[in-house]
This record gives sequence, C-alpha cells and structure tokens, in this order.
Amino acid sequence: MDTPGRIGRIVAVGGGKGGVGKSLISTNLAVTLAKSGARVVMLDADLGAPNLHTMFGIMRPGRTVEDFLSGRSTSLEEVALPTPVAGLRLICGAEGALGSAHTTAEGKQRLLSQLGRLDADCLVIDVGAGVNLDTIDFFNAADTRLVVMVPEITSLQNGYGFLKVALFRRFQRAIVGMRASEKLTAAFGDDAFEIGSTMDRVSTFFSMLEDEVPELVASFRMLLQEFNAQIVGNMLHTPADRNALFAIQRMIRERLGLEVGIAAGVSQNIHVRNSVNTGRPFAIDAAPGDPDLRELRQLATTILQQDLSQVRKLRESFLREMRKRPIDPQLDARFDFGFEGMPTAPRATPPRPPPIPIRAPQIPAPAELRQVQRASERLAVRVPVEINFDGRWYLGQMTEINEGGAQIAGIRAPSTWSTSTARGKLRRAGDDRGVTALGIALHSASAADGSVVIRFADAAAASRLVASVRQDAARLAG
Ligand SMILES: Nc1ncnc2c1ncn2[C@@H]1O[C@H](COP(=O)(O)OP(=O)(O)O)[C@@H](O)[C@H]1O
Ligand SMILES: [Mg+2]
Repeated sequence: MDTPGRIGRIVAVGGGKGGVGKSLISTNLAVTLAKSGARVVMLDADLGAPNLHTMFGIMRPGRTVEDFLSGRSTSLEEVALPTPVAGLRLICGAEGALGSAHTTAEGKQRLLSQLGRLDADCLVIDVGAGVNLDTIDFFNAADTRLVVMVPEITSLQNGYGFLKVALFRRFQRAIVGMRASEKLTAAFGDDAFEIGSTMDRVSTFFSMLEDEVPELVASFRMLLQEFNAQIVGNMLHTPADRNALFAIQRMIRERLGLEVGIAAGVSQNIHVRNSVNTGRPFAIDAAPGDPDLRELRQLATTILQQDLSQVRKLRESFLREMRKRPIDPQLDARFDFGFEGMPTAPRATPPRPPPIPIRAPQIPAPAELRQVQRASERLAVRVPVEINFDGRWYLGQMTEINEGGAQIAGIRAPSTWSTSTARGKLRRAGDDRGVTALGIALHSASAADGSVVIRFADAAAASRLVASVRQDAARLAG
C-alpha cells in the first residue's frame, strides 16, 4: 500500500487445536476478501496437514512452498497458484516442508521476510495446529491475529494457551541476547514460555522484570497494544455459545493483558461442512442472505477497514526504544529479531544463543499413576485444569484420570509442596467461579518431567468429574 510491491496487510489464522475450523475460516475469509475486490494471497503454513488446496478442489498442486524453500523457485510470486476465485492466489503447503531437516532456519527466515513483499492487498496465513515455533512465528508475522475457537473447554483453553505462547514468544525474541533474558531463564528455567508454566500472568512476568529493567517493561506494554488479536468463534450452536467466548475473552484480558475482540461467530453449518468434499469453498456459492456469509463479510470488512497505522507506529516506537536501550552495548548487533512483516536494516549478525525452546506439555509415562488406588481404567485425556495447593492456581494439562486420582502435566511442583501435607483444589481451567472445583491431595511430583499426580478427596465428586471428562472425550471422538 504505502510501498509498491509490499503487502497491504497480513492476517494469520491460528488456534492451537486441530479440527476447530482454522482452514475453513481462513479459506472462506480469503474468498470473501477476494470477492469484495481485494487482491488476496493465501499461504498454507500447516506443517502437519496442509490441505488448503483440497478446499479449492486442487488435488496435486503443481508448485508448493517447498519449491520456494528448497530454492527451486526463487520468488514467492512464482509459487502462488491461481484458484477458481478471481483475485485469490494460493501458496500450497507441502507435508513436512517447514519441519523437514532440509529446511534450514534461513529458509524459514527467507520465507517470513518475503511474505511482506508479496504483491497483494492481503495475505491470509493458515498457520495450522500446535504451538511449535514454526507455527507461532507465522502467527506472529501478522498484523492481525485471528484465533479460531469452538465453544468447548478444550478448544477455548488451547486458544488461550496459543495466544499466551505467541505473546511470550514475542517478548522472548525481543530480549534474546540481553541480560534480562538470562535473568528470566535463570528465574524460570526453560519452561518460562510453556503453556503449562506456573507463570500464567503477564503481570507476574512484568513484575519480575520491573525492578531491574523498568524501561523494558514499558516497552513490552507497547507490545500488548500492538498484538492486535481477535477471536473468531466457530461451530456455534446456541446463543449461549457466545457466552463461552466472552468468558475466554475475559480470561485473556485478566491474565494476558490483551484486549481481544470477538470478530465473528460462524455457526455449525451443513453447507460449510459439505464444501470440504465438493472442493468449492462455502463463501463462493452461499446465498446472499446466509447468516454465516454475513459474519464472514463482516469479518472481511473489519479487517480491510482496520487502520494499521496505529499498530505499525507502536511497532516502530518499540523497535526504536529497544535500539536505544543502554542496558547492553552489544544489543543492537544482537537484536535482529526483525519484527516479522517489517523489514529491518540489514546488518551482520554474530551467532545468537539458541532461543529458549517452547516445548509442548510433556505427557510423561504414567508409572506413577499405578500407585494411585485404582477405581476404574485410567482414561487418557487432555484436559486443561488448574490446581491450587498454596493459595495460587497453577495451570496444567490433565493427561490421565480415574476415580482415584489424576496425572497433570506441565506443572513443576515448588519444593514447598509436601506430599504428606499438601491439600488443595482442582478445577477446570478458566473456571474462576470454582463451579467445578474439587478437593485433592498431592500424591507425588516429578521435577524431572514437570508433572504431578494428585488424589481426589471426595470419591463421589471424582466420579462425576471422570464421567464428564469421559463424555467430553466421546463427543470429541464422535
Ligand atoms: N462452521 C462449520 N460448520 C460445520 N462444520 C465445520 C465448521 N467448521 C469446521 N467444520 C468441520 O470441521 C472439520 C475441520 O475443519 P478444518 O477447517 O479443517 O479445521 P482445522 O484447520 O482447524 O484443523 C471440517 O472438515 C468440517 O467438517
Ligand atoms: Mg487445517
């Protein structure tokens, strides 16, 4: 827009969890944007299951992003294939392309930096599932970040976790190579940026840094403003489903300090679902009065009309602040995180320390759970829960449960928790009113893999929880 040959805006669609409709939402958004006259490119950045081409009825794409990554194609324009929709081109994904051993970090960096040079009004990126760095970095390359959530606790929690990791990754990249980064790593260990980390509030993180580097915290507050994320609800059934989105919106505000809007709500729609099999996106043929088409149009309009100058100004002042920081004379040289989507002046960069890895919550071997009195078969689950033994809530992921107890991954138990005395509470994550809270005792904790095993205090309450978790699992499977 301002510079010829530069992308007008980048929109990324993420959400953490597979099957929530990221690909359908991003595809139909791209179609709607193109139908409204914008020149659009879509990028399939899903590493695990690239399938956007199938959505457009393209069975074997002639070129994919892999051609660009491997150097066979020198520009991204070359691999942006036409689609049946006028004004919409598609850069197809290739299975494992970004995750493969052949793809170097430079390849990925080249891809990220070329995104901004695509000749289009709008780039829509389907970032795919998961919270690995490739996914997060594509999400963070955008001006507008859309998180797709369906009104189920697992999806809401995954969406929340996804935003948290993306935000912290942004902080982290900004301080790589600085003493503050070392301090952070020393204070929290490698897991500072994990989903199940005990540092579950941005305010906690800020107060850790405030004493030492108050001006850094001031700059980070700019990043909160700049983050520009929006929730897109999908597969909504009832009006009450919107309430679930409002609840997670509140949680995001309270814990992450981010103001996110609910940009659209698409219902569970048979025409949307059938479009996957026909290879013609729903938004191409939908009846003009279709309420879901209206939501998509509204979303497209919101995106096209959003004035990004404020966001970009914040980004620039953040960069300026960071460059002039006196804390580390080497900072400038090492500070090449180059706000994705915004070119930074090229400069020689000495090798950087490797970034703090973001690991998915581990699912440890369940040997410990065998010691818990067995009431029924252990159920393998993935339910975000919070436990409280010392007056604060620790977010983790329940990986196994039966009526006797549960194993929870992603929580490194503080040494003050003793198995003989620790009595506490467990609740479903985000249940701030404690409707689902039940009494627990600490059975054991493993510092090595960051997991704890708890025992339920009340057998009746425990079996109700097991039943409801079992029901959720069955619903997700069916
Ligand atoms: N709004 C919707 N209405 C009906 N079915 C939907 C809707 N959104 C998603 N689905 C169903 O969910 C499946 C997964 O959607 P997809 O976009 O591939 O998810 P993701 O990209 O998040 O893994 C689709 O194949 C479709 O059957
Ligand atoms: Mg997908």
